[in-house]
Amino acid sequence: MLIKAKMVLKKKLICRGTGLVMLVLLSFVLLPPLLYADQCPQPRKTKKAPEQFLKMTNPLSLEPENIIAGKILFERKAKPLPCMQCHGLSGTGDGPMAFGLTPPPRNFTCAQTIKDVPDGQLFWIIRNGSSGTGMPAFKKLEDEEIWQLILYLRKLSLTRLVHWKN
Ligand code: HEC
Repeated sequence: MLIKAKMVLKKKLICRGTGLVMLVLLSFVLLPPLLYADQCPQPRKTKKAPEQFLKMTNPLSLEPENIIAGKILFERKAKPLPCMQCHGLSGTGDGPMAFGLTPPPRNFTCAQTIKDVPDGQLFWIIRNGSSGTGMPAFKKLEDEEIWQLILYLRKLSLTRLVHWKN
């Protein structure tokens, strides 16, 4: 009897233990998106690009092939690592590597934050990184690839606007 009772007790404890472990694990999975995702407007303290960059405008047109090329770079091709690792697949800034980054990665779906940031500013940051933050420099990307990425980033915030209106 006593042994049986002890075993039941042990089982209960184990159950409680695993429950607790599960809860802790789950909070690691759930918390980052809750903390970072969709912060909009997002505080922005990024350094201003030099004047000659701020004057630049995107030479590419909003053709599907340019946007798709940008999407492929964003999700898979960009080196040293694809943008989605930090900015997230949907661009909300909650990628797998976003956890712990201060400031957090830009949420591109937030039009209020991104719409007044000039093309040339985005170009400068993508090429050179944002010093003192987790945003790396992408020195190996061709100019054209950076412009394709920028078209895609702009498109991400437009999609969000469409959702709002609906
Ligand atoms: C290792 C994480 C990481 C990766 C990978 C990454 N970013 Fe970022 N990115 C950040 C962080 C963090 C910030 C916020 C920097 C800041 O506040 O100045 C940021 C900010 C930006 C900004 C905002 C610039 C501004 O002036 O507001 C742009 C544009 C950007 N990233 C584009 C990209 C693109 C395009 C890629 C892929 C080619 C990429 N990022 C990959 C972490 C990352």
